[in-house]
Amino acid sequence: MSNLGDLQSLASSIAAVTSPFRNYLNDIYEKYRSLNDGVVADYIPELALAKPEWFGICVVTPDGQIFEVGDCDKLFTIQSISKAFVYGLALEDHGREYVNSKVSVEPTGEAFNSIVLDEATNRPYNPMVNAGAIATADLIKGQNSTERLKRMLAMFKRYTGREHDINVPVFLSEKSTGYRNKAMAYLMLNFGMVSNKIDETLDLYFQQCSILVNAKDLAMLAATLANGGINPVTKERAIDEHYVQDVISVMFTCGMYDASGEWAYRVGIPAKSGVGGGITAVVPSQLGIGTFSPPLDTKGNSLRGIKVCEDLSKDFGLHLFNVAKPERDLKEWLEGGNINDW
Ligand code: DON
Repeated sequence: MSNLGDLQSLASSIAAVTSPFRNYLNDIYEKYRSLNDGVVADYIPELALAKPEWFGICVVTPDGQIFEVGDCDKLFTIQSISKAFVYGLALEDHGREYVNSKVSVEPTGEAFNSIVLDEATNRPYNPMVNAGAIATADLIKGQNSTERLKRMLAMFKRYTGREHDINVPVFLSEKSTGYRNKAMAYLMLNFGMVSNKIDETLDLYFQQCSILVNAKDLAMLAATLANGGINPVTKERAIDEHYVQDVISVMFTCGMYDASGEWAYRVGIPAKSGVGGGITAVVPSQLGIGTFSPPLDTKGNSLRGIKVCEDLSKDFGLHLFNVAKPERDLKEWLEGGNINDW
C-alpha cells in the first residue's frame, strides 16, 4: 500500500464484501432471477441472440464502493441508454440554447420509435426517443465520422473508466434494418432540424447504440452523474457539471419510454433503459444503479431491472420525492448496518 488512494480503495472493496447491502443485493437477485416474464428484443436480428436468463445487478456509490451480483461482466449493447450521455456531449459541444432549438425536452407518451415531431416547432420531442437521439447525434462535433465516433467513445470511457468496443454485427444489423430511423432522419432534414450528413449521422447513431457495456459500466455511468459528473473511482470528470442536471432531468421525464410517467410515480429515480436489457438509474449524491436482464416488457424496459429498481426505491426510500422514513437506512446498510435489520 503506497498511498492514501490505495488505502481508500482497499477500504471500499472490504466494505463492498462485508456490508449488509451486499446481502440485500444477493437477496433481490435471488428473488427475481426466476422471473420468467418478458420477451428478448428481436426487431434488430442480432439482439435476439441474447439469453433470457442473463441477469446482473451492480450498484456504485459516489465514494467508489462497487457492489455486484450475477452477470455484471457480461457484455451487451448499450442501445438507448447511450442517448442520455450523448445528449450531455451535445450540450457540451453547443450549449443549452442551441441544443434546445434542435431537440425539445417534452415527454411524448409515445413509443420510442414513433414518427412524430412537435407541430409548432418541428423539433423532435426529446433526446430519448429515436428522432431526438438522431438529431442529437447530428450535433456531435468532429472533422469527420471517425473523429465524431472517437469523441463519443472517449466520453463513455471518461464515465466508465474503461475502453469500449462496438459490436459490429449489431451495428450492421441496425444499419441494414433501420428504415424507420432513416425515415425520421429525412423528415427532420425536410424541416431543417438536422444537417444533410444523414448517412454519417445515422451510422453514428447506430454505432452509439452498438457500444458494448456491462452492468458495472451502467452503474458507473449512473454513479458518475450521481457524483456531479466525476467518475467515483478514476476521479476523472466525464461531463461539465453545468449539464449534469439537464441529463438527469430528461432521464427522469423521458428515460423509460412511454412508461416514464409511471416510473416517475412508482420508482422516482431518474433512469434510462435500452432494448439490450440494460437500465442505468441515478440517485443523485447517493447511488448509481446498473441492471442487465434482456427480457423486456411491452414498453421495451427490462422486466427484472424494473423490479430491482422498484425494490431499491421502496426499501431505501430512494424516490426523489420521498419524505417518509425509509424501511432501511441506506448509509447504515452500506457501511455495516444494524445487525438486527438483516
Ligand atoms: O433505434 C433503434 O431502434 C435502437 N438502436 C434504439 C434502441 C433502444 O434501446 C430504443 N429503445 N427502446
